[in-house]
This record gives sequence, structure tokens and C-alpha cells, in this order.
Amino acid sequence: MERTFLMIKPDGVQRGLIGEIVSRFERKGLQLSGAKFMQITRERAEIHYAEHKGKSFYEPLLEFITSGPVFAMVWSGDNVIALSRALIGKTDALDAAPGTIRSDFAVHTNFNLIHGSDSAANAEREIGIFFGSEELVAYEHTI
Ligand code: CMP
Repeated sequence: MERTFLMIKPDGVQRGLIGEIVSRFERKGLQLSGAKFMQITRERAEIHYAEHKGKSFYEPLLEFITSGPVFAMVWSGDNVIALSRALIGKTDALDAAPGTIRSDFAVHTNFNLIHGSDSAANAEREIGIFFGSEELVAYEHTI
């Protein structure tokens, strides 16, 4: 079974979209393995977004992601990485397919509501940045 790291960003929290977004993953049939409402420190944000260091959007991204609480989650399921990215939609809301989270609710690339890991390696890396193994729950998923 695959795992992924998903994080509702400060814009999603402020707009009251946690329930709407979590509901989409639940309805899809994916399995919640851990969740945490938290404020990200600058240090943690730098580690999480290390691959973007030096890019034009790096500093605004760090400022934004540390500007308010986020809802960090681990989800599990077969093909959960690709499936969750399909539910989320493309980074730029203009390119996101209708019916995706970003198409339905986001306007700007900088405020795109949710982060989702893009590979198995990044998923494991990101889960390790935000969660200890004792914070994740494994349980029988019958459907
Ligand atoms: P996220 O999936 O969290 O990964 C990096 C984030 O940087 C991305 O979502 C966007 O919120 C933000 N970003 C801003 N500009 C760009 C860009 N040109 N390309 C990719 N990501 C960008």
C-alpha cells in the first residue's frame, strides 16, 4: 500500500475548506493515516521546499506557508500519490481540470490550497519532515 503527504495550506484553512477537501479524499475511498493542525516554522518550511530554493517563488512561498496554520495529513491506498494529485489538479488553477480541488476553489498558483507529494520518494521524505511514526495509525481498511 502506498502513502502520500497532503497539506491544506493557510489559504485553505482560512477559507474554511478543510472539511470540503478532506471529504473529497474520503469519498474517493482513500485512507487517512494521520493528521495534524499546526503552524509551520521557517526551518521546517525550508526543509520541505528545499528543491525550490533559488527559484523566484521560493521566498513568497516560504512566507505564505508560514503565515498561518496548515492541516498536514498522511493518506494511504493503492496508487494514492497519483490519485490524490488527480483530485488536487495542476499547480496553476488555470490548467487544473474542472472538478479538481484547484479548479473548483483556487485562482492563483501561489494560493493553490493544498500540497500533494509528487513521487514515492518525496512522499516518504515529506512524511518524515512532518510526522513521527507514533503519530501514524495503521488499521484495517475493508473497502
Ligand atoms: P506545491 O505543490 O506546494 O509546491 C511548490 C509550490 O510553489 C506550489 O505548490 C505553488 O504553490 C508554488 N509556486 C508558485 N509559483 C510556482 C511555479 N511557477 N511553479 C511551481 N510552483 C509554484
